[in-house]
Amino acid sequence: MRLRILIIPFALVGLALTLSPASQGQRASADPDGDRIAIGYRIAPVPLNLHNRDHSLVGLGSYIVNAQAACNDCHTNPPFAPGGDPYQGQPKKFNAARYLAGGTAFGPFISRNITPDADGLPAGLTLAEFKSVMRTGHDPDAPSHLLQVMPWPVYQSMTDKDLRAIYEYLRSIPHID
Ligand code: HEC
Repeated sequence: MRLRILIIPFALVGLALTLSPASQGQRASADPDGDRIAIGYRIAPVPLNLHNRDHSLVGLGSYIVNAQAACNDCHTNPPFAPGGDPYQGQPKKFNAARYLAGGTAFGPFISRNITPDADGLPAGLTLAEFKSVMRTGHDPDAPSHLLQVMPWPVYQSMTDKDLRAIYEYLRSIPHID
């Protein structure tokens, strides 16, 4: 009895939501990451190859890489274009010519080129390998070496979707030697 009394109001609310025009509009942009995807596209500092890509994941990946995870700080050398260094009070402009191509030294450790290789694989890694690197810090090319400096102990807690988004974004940026 009690249960039925509870169910009826919920059913009515559900029906009202289904029929209301507002929810129709919402359903068109139902992606819960919509804002972040839009910002991701706005702030991507390089042209993106969107052919055969999941567009939502690419936008989300750009947001994570460029607005949250600071990959550019360590993987672009130097991180900012001439005249675009915000630490000098200049309007921020990422160094698109070397974007994520690595080469920054942290003592003996050098950040890697994480742009797509000739086969289109970011840092030469498959998605499974990339997720493993981000979660464990183990480089598949040198399994005994634990990546240093690279904040994988932070990134390892990201959702599977977030890591896939980063990968899909890195797959879409230009290759740089
Ligand atoms: C604090 C600096 C720093 C940040 C921030 C950083 N990295 Fe790194 N990353 C490094 C360094 C340094 C290495 C190489 C470490 C070594 O050789 O031990 C590395 C290595 C890697 C590797 C291994 C490449 C390979 O060939 O196995 C990947 C992949 C990677 N980084 C991706 C990323 C991504 C994606 C982000 C942003 C989400 C990021 N990194 C942010 C410093 C950083």
